[in-house]
Amino acid sequence: MVDQRLEIADDKGLFRLKWEYEKEQKPWDDLLCFGTADMDYRSPQPILDALERVIQRGHLGYPMIPDAYYEAIQNWLLRTNAWEIDARSSVLQNAGIYMAAWTALNILTAPGDAVAILTPVHFCFREILTLNRRRVMECPLILEEDGYRIDFGALEACLAAGSKVLWICNPHNPVGRAWKKEELQKIADLCLRYQAWILSDDVYCGLIFPEGRYTAIASLSREISYRTITLYSTSKTYNTAALRHAFIVAENPEIYKQYREALNAMSMEYGQNLMGIVATIAAFNECDAWLDRLRKEIAENHRFLTQYFESQIPGRCRVMKSDASYFAWIDLRKLRIRPQTLSYQIEQEAHMIVENGYPLGRGGAGFIRMNLATSRANIEEGAKRLKKFCERRDSRI
Ligand SMILES: Cc1ncc(COP(=O)(O)O)c(C=O)c1O
Repeated sequence: MVDQRLEIADDKGLFRLKWEYEKEQKPWDDLLCFGTADMDYRSPQPILDALERVIQRGHLGYPMIPDAYYEAIQNWLLRTNAWEIDARSSVLQNAGIYMAAWTALNILTAPGDAVAILTPVHFCFREILTLNRRRVMECPLILEEDGYRIDFGALEACLAAGSKVLWICNPHNPVGRAWKKEELQKIADLCLRYQAWILSDDVYCGLIFPEGRYTAIASLSREISYRTITLYSTSKTYNTAALRHAFIVAENPEIYKQYREALNAMSMEYGQNLMGIVATIAAFNECDAWLDRLRKEIAENHRFLTQYFESQIPGRCRVMKSDASYFAWIDLRKLRIRPQTLSYQIEQEAHMIVENGYPLGRGGAGFIRMNLATSRANIEEGAKRLKKFCERRDSRI
């Protein structure tokens, strides 16, 4: 049990995409928002205090990156992954994960090149690739009774067919799998065999359920790390997305050099986000206790929703097993609703915003993603509304 729940941010004066923006678009006073991947909790106090100290000093000019930043990252990777890096020669900053991903893809691939992704996956993966004229090779995950696993045969086929990069998400949005060491080793073996690069988006790596473990693919060996660029940010785990700060780890000196040149080409290397730097230091040095509570709470929210549907509408609406993230990935295929319209119908009838699985690639149709980083009251109300939504469909069958 969570002894004390995390504090929900007071919504007065906030202007969030997740809530205020949606409420502006929709006519319903009782709208519930489970869409955007943000938490409703207050960001951890040590981060807020650190940011406040910056404001008090009264200077917001271009920052240098202090040693404390590199040390915080080094210590954190050592603590969480026994991964010993020299951050000064392998870490570079960027303005958020997407910019960091695109900068990497731009140096690893040329227009027309293929990139493999494991679907269903966050829609931005496909969007960034197609908008930038890269070919998407979908490698659908295999859904089994107890959750998702990687189809290594299909992955090998994608790599053999010429994918230059495998872009993974670890833990995986939306299905919540934190890939196990053995799975990562197999992925890496294949990428090494076919000389493919690995781009690993590990933005959810702090949000592992208490009994789970996060393994960074690059931490498995120096050889693997030399073929990998790993993307990190405090945005998801510590609720700092608005700071637009991310960093990469690239231990291969040639890749590091090229990434640095790519940043220079955009005048991005000079002067980074001061608040992002300060928040990163505070997150990795001072927030472990807060994070322990968060991990318990999101795991409990997930368990609650799973049990609610199991007991209230067995067989109609199933929360898939997960080991990380604040998402519930919910199977509604039995309702036999046209998948393209699923979230729209839920929105119209239940007045709740959820993410539709359909645009997330093969394997996403008939699923929705519900963000559970909110109050238990919101989750209970959302669960009741979804139950009613399913029951209405039952009565029509
Ligand atoms: C898998 C994944 N990567 C990256 C991002 C974006 O991260 P950021 O806002 O820190 O750039 C998201 C946001 O939802 C995400 O789900």
